[in-house]
Amino acid sequence: MSASIMAPTDRGTRISARLLKWYRLHKRDLPWRGASPYAVWISEIMLQQTQVATVIPFFLRFLNRFPTVEALAEAPIDEVLKHWAGLGYYARARNLHRAAQKIVTDHGGRVPDTPEAIEALPGIGRYTSGAILSIAYGIPRPLVDANVVRVLSRLFGLKGDPKSAANQAAIWSIAEQLVPPEAPGDFNQGLMEIGALVCAPTEPKCEACPLLSDCVAGNSADPSALPEFPAGRKPISVVHSAAIVQDAEGRFLISQRPLHGLWGGLWEFPRVICAPGEEPKSAAVRAAAEVTGLTIKVGSRIATVKHAVTHHRITLYAFSAQPDSSSGPAYPRDAAAVRWERFEALDDFGFSSPQALLRNALRQRLEQQQTGTYQPELDL
Ligand code: ADE
Ligand code: SF4
Repeated sequence: MSASIMAPTDRGTRISARLLKWYRLHKRDLPWRGASPYAVWISEIMLQQTQVATVIPFFLRFLNRFPTVEALAEAPIDEVLKHWAGLGYYARARNLHRAAQKIVTDHGGRVPDTPEAIEALPGIGRYTSGAILSIAYGIPRPLVDANVVRVLSRLFGLKGDPKSAANQAAIWSIAEQLVPPEAPGDFNQGLMEIGALVCAPTEPKCEACPLLSDCVAGNSADPSALPEFPAGRKPISVVHSAAIVQDAEGRFLISQRPLHGLWGGLWEFPRVICAPGEEPKSAAVRAAAEVTGLTIKVGSRIATVKHAVTHHRITLYAFSAQPDSSSGPAYPRDAAAVRWERFEALDDFGFSSPQALLRNALRQRLEQQQTGTYQPELDL
């Protein structure tokens, strides 16, 4: 099975080498990187259902209170649960506590370094086993989490439900064949890191990806079409925010999407995906800054557009804005190009369908302003 899916060895070698090089240049400085096997284990359990940014303070507090396997094993369970409060999925904390006791009694307090011993501990499955062995002990074992599923499905063009037994087997097999014996921990973390920072769920930044030349999805019209989640799967809601910036001459700021990937080469009002909990209004300020380098003064929300891409349900908010007097000129920062255009000229640019709805909303708004029938917000 794997032979038909696995690329020639030189492709695999190239992917591993490029990923490692990228990881060493771009990895985030996270408190569990380079730490003890115990700390790696704790971090990997915390990271299973929780985002990196949320995990960091919990990880630091947990390690401060339970600095060793022994300290964790000896602590009352209530104390462990108290330090887990806020992370959710409390079975993880109970399993950690029981596993620590087992490591003390059966392994002399040392986190075991074989798949058999480690997977016999409560709460440790194939993923965590691969993570501890590769990251903490430098043993070439594969690891597959949601990020890795996404990156490998795209790289190798895997179609069909990524959760199917056949695709799971294929993905684990590819991960196993790619992991380089000389740097398994950096490679595995690189796969997860590139999934978090570059190969994002809805808008992978293929132009910035070191694997683009070897990537099936990256060279297709819509890289985010993979992995193919089955129809009927609960759609994921995401919020996008755009800045409709008008300069003193009444011209609008538009930016061209990077040429690769979703909406590649199409034009839009500068836009970002809101981070969890981020106010759309602040995200509009970030959009102007990140996409065009412009500092703006943001005004009121002028339109809301809803649309669906694959299994994502996107709500796009748009805010009126002006360049701040302190700002330098707009330039293509995370964009292929930027332009200032009069409204009438915007129809000459290819907009993505949601952004074309925004352009229509703006047209209605400008007409309302002329006829004095202005409404504060348009819902599309
Ligand atoms: N997600 C889970 N574990 C991770 C790690 N070690 N590095 C980056 N992302 C992760
Ligand atoms: Fe993901 Fe694009 Fe890189 Fe392929 S080229 S791995 S789709 S970011």
